[in-house]
Amino acid sequence: MESLYVLLILLAAFIASFIVAIAGAIQTQYFNFSIPPGVNQPGMLRLLFAFMRSTSALGKILEKIGVCSQITFTRYLHNGKKLRPDPQLSQQDERFDGVPVRVYRPRAPASGLRPGAIFLHGGGWLYCSIDSHEKICRCIAKGGELVVVSVGYRLAPEHKYPAAYEDCLNASIHFMKNAEHYGVDPANVIVCGDSAGGNLAAAVSQTLAGRSDLPRLRAQILIYPGLQALDFNLPSYQQNQGVPPLLREHAAFFALQYLNGDASNVQEILEGSHIPPDMRLKYRKWVNPDNIPEKFKVRGYKPHKPGEFKPEVYETVKRFCEPSLCPLLAEDARIQQLPESFIFTCEYDVLRDDGLLYKKRLEDNGVRVTWYHLEDGFHGILSLYDNYGFSFPSGKKGLDRIVEFIKGL
Ligand SMILES: *[C@@H]1O[C@H](CO)[C@@H](O)[C@H](O)[C@H]1NC(C)=O
Repeated sequence: MESLYVLLILLAAFIASFIVAIAGAIQTQYFNFSIPPGVNQPGMLRLLFAFMRSTSALGKILEKIGVCSQITFTRYLHNGKKLRPDPQLSQQDERFDGVPVRVYRPRAPASGLRPGAIFLHGGGWLYCSIDSHEKICRCIAKGGELVVVSVGYRLAPEHKYPAAYEDCLNASIHFMKNAEHYGVDPANVIVCGDSAGGNLAAAVSQTLAGRSDLPRLRAQILIYPGLQALDFNLPSYQQNQGVPPLLREHAAFFALQYLNGDASNVQEILEGSHIPPDMRLKYRKWVNPDNIPEKFKVRGYKPHKPGEFKPEVYETVKRFCEPSLCPLLAEDARIQQLPESFIFTCEYDVLRDDGLLYKKRLEDNGVRVTWYHLEDGFHGILSLYDNYGFSFPSGKKGLDRIVEFIKGL
């Protein structure tokens, strides 16, 4: 009975998505999104976004009629269906210091201790889970021949910052301390995350870099991470403001949900009215369009003058200046301690410049960076390389590069 219900919902969503796709093709402007011609599989991306839009509309209806909240519905859809066991991996659900994790271990015999990876999933701090990112974790565990720990941190808006960060940190510390129990060399552990997970990975890396009682992380892998909430008018935010699935307003919405569990100030944040002028000046050396290479500014970028400062908004968002929320704002002394890094950016992604600015900060501080820029990539492409028949070969290419980097460590 329940599955019939779900089937009907999916069918309705599918039909609605076709209608939106057709309407979108006729009048893209009306829907406030744009698909750049240079993106990988533009038609597929349009369809995917139409599907997302219609399921979101459906979620709203379900909430109105009291079936479930929109967030619950969206989370349900994001989690996908359960995968069959992978014969090459053993996997086990556990708790690390109270935090749910799934440990993936290659079955093939190892000659000694293996490397390990802590994986922090994306989803705007609101969505997704260990299940939704199972394919990526398996791919990394098999391709990199290492033990992967995927962390089921608590989600916003129910759990606000720093809940997710603390869960990730506590699970990571537990893993480092007990690595050998999992056949892992504690001196050979990396941390890796996509999107909001990239934010958490960067924050955890910074904190662990300051701990002398634990071995150093071997590397960090940041996949289109969100790293700041000071400036939503950097070139990539302007250029890709309407590129799905992460529109510019979504980026601000998610950051606010994570921080406050409430996104009512999203317009002020987008305009830049939330940061006092002296703070803006203080961080200008790091958060600045001048630090973005010129070649990334040729595609429709206009310097933006921040809106008039609103102290009452600042009062609610001042924790945006904490590095464990916005890692781009960490002091040089901390950045210098960071491990070798892999930064993955996509051209058609509002968060591209967060990645580029962090890359510059790491390089300026003598940290070795491997940078991979997916010229036809969009935000989230990696977890979409094969998803419900929506497939983006470029995402697979990106994932292969990450596995290559891991093997080369
Ligand atoms: C994380 O670990 C610390 C130290 O053990 C503990 O004080 C803190 O409550 C933990 N945080 C969470 C969110 O469980």
